[in-house]
Amino acid sequence: MCGIIGYIGNKQVIPVILNGLSNLEYRGYDSAGIAYLENSNINIYKAQGKLQNLKNKTENITANNSLNIGIGHIRWATHGVPNETNAHPHTSCFNKIALVHNGIIENYKELKDDLVKKGYNIQSQTDTEIIVHLIEEKLKEMPDKTTAIRNTLNDLDGAYALGIVFADEPETFFAARKSAPLIVGIGEGENFIASDVPATLEYTKKVIYLEDNEIAKLTKDNVEIFNKKNEKIEKKVELIPWEPVAIDKMGYKHFMLKEIHEQPNVVRQTLSDKLHSSEELVQLNEVKLNEEDLKKLERIQIIACGSSLHAAMVGKYIIEELVEIPVDVEASSEYIYKKNITGKNSLTIGISQSGETADTLTAIRQSKEKGSHALIITNRVDSTMAREADSLLPINAGIEVSVAATKSYTAQLLALYLLALNLAEIKKSVSNEKLTILKEELLKTPQQIEIMLSNKKAIQKCARKYYDTRDFIYIARGINFPAALEGALKLKEISYINATGYPAGELKHGPIAMLDNTIPVLSVLVPGTVYEKVLSNSEESKARDANIIAVTSSEDEKLESIFDYIIRIPQTDELISPIITTVPLQLLAYYIAEFLGKDVDQPRNLAKSVTVE
Ligand code: F6R
Repeated sequence: MCGIIGYIGNKQVIPVILNGLSNLEYRGYDSAGIAYLENSNINIYKAQGKLQNLKNKTENITANNSLNIGIGHIRWATHGVPNETNAHPHTSCFNKIALVHNGIIENYKELKDDLVKKGYNIQSQTDTEIIVHLIEEKLKEMPDKTTAIRNTLNDLDGAYALGIVFADEPETFFAARKSAPLIVGIGEGENFIASDVPATLEYTKKVIYLEDNEIAKLTKDNVEIFNKKNEKIEKKVELIPWEPVAIDKMGYKHFMLKEIHEQPNVVRQTLSDKLHSSEELVQLNEVKLNEEDLKKLERIQIIACGSSLHAAMVGKYIIEELVEIPVDVEASSEYIYKKNITGKNSLTIGISQSGETADTLTAIRQSKEKGSHALIITNRVDSTMAREADSLLPINAGIEVSVAATKSYTAQLLALYLLALNLAEIKKSVSNEKLTILKEELLKTPQQIEIMLSNKKAIQKCARKYYDTRDFIYIARGINFPAALEGALKLKEISYINATGYPAGELKHGPIAMLDNTIPVLSVLVPGTVYEKVLSNSEESKARDANIIAVTSSEDEKLESIFDYIIRIPQTDELISPIITTVPLQLLAYYIAEFLGKDVDQPRNLAKSVTVE
């Protein structure tokens, strides 16, 4: 949430900053801003809303310098509404310092009161602006910039990644981090800072990962890093092993639609790496627990947020079913503020597309402190979570641009299935026959998703029928209950329709009171252990006048006379079915949002990487 970038070198600073911010726009789009130096003055441009507004404002401007230096920001509002005053960069009283910030300063109110008493004129409602005035204040007593910044940081509670420029030091800029991601990009005669590697990858593959409490001082030819005691330290320069990815919709109207269509190949690619045939063992060398430790495992906990949490819920079903180890699933934001009874002989699995979600990161750190082994399932092998993992299981879904998770969710599911199969093989908790059948079913999934995608018309028609509803209910039981939650989340986040997922059996314990002919109820109905039960729960909804929709692989003829609308999915084994059932729900959400004319890829109030608690 929020992205920052900084540059010093001989290139024109505005295009470099704007280009970097384009690659960070997934972190927020409430406002954008840039500060750059020109003849020892700080010039600032800010615009409310998407980055394009800032691009329009700065289109004909070039900095008139031989050495260029500047910082930029993309905002996801935490304190203060999204307007230009609250947009970063924030400046000191006489425009001598400009600063960009990602994070939250928790004690900003006390610090602000103090500054106001001292006569500082605070213009914005943000928690950020106080930082720049604090530096201004400290500089009165300690002219060395690194010392003044360090003393300011010592006063701050909370999380920050900062970029700072000073009008009287046009050949240097500064950065600092605590509990928010920040990299330093090392170029030839130029250097960068950024919240994330893609912002600078076009210019350099060499990076230093800043750690908590470190300050970086950058000139065009040099980078110095200081630790908490302000001692200069040496840091490893790492080489990013990937190429910049062209972010392209490839002819699709939205990234979300493109990413939904990428799912068969994402699944196929992972299976070709890790599961060659139904007769062979799963090739999962990423889990760094030895066989003895794995056999001793008494408990597994899976921690995640949002869609990743729904993947975790499927993981619980599949691991408990195949491995017979109790699995607890918890939302990271709940996990971190309660008694932690994790310990040795437990495995903590953290799932995160971005690998940066603040709550999940904190939860993983807490469980590691208690002695639990941390296995991270992520799409970003360069993320903070990946770097802190005891075991790292990458999902290799490729860059996901749309804020709503689709292909990363399916890839997370696949990682959990492969893990469960691998553990079952090691623990010999399931017969070889059953393992072979499940592997056969898993190997069919890319093709089944393809069949699903080739049948989009039926889903489009369903979307047309129901797009103007205000509420939507999704029900399912067992291993598909998380699919109902995920379908509802997809719909609410991109269409703003009030969609809720319930375990089908819970409907009659309260929610059924809401039902009438204005609320459609969608059931995920897969033949197997709970088929008849979900069918009865759907009928109960119909009896209350609700319009009922089925997403089903059943060929049961009576369904035609029961449901108002049926979305057919390919035949699939119940245990493997969540990999298939979620796809039509993603498409349904997509088409409804499209009919409503919503901003599908960048829904309001959201950001792709949630780096604040
Ligand atoms: C929903 C969505 C979010 C994320 C959640 C966790 O479509 O994308 O709910 O799943 O913010 O993010 P990660 O997986 O990056 O930890």
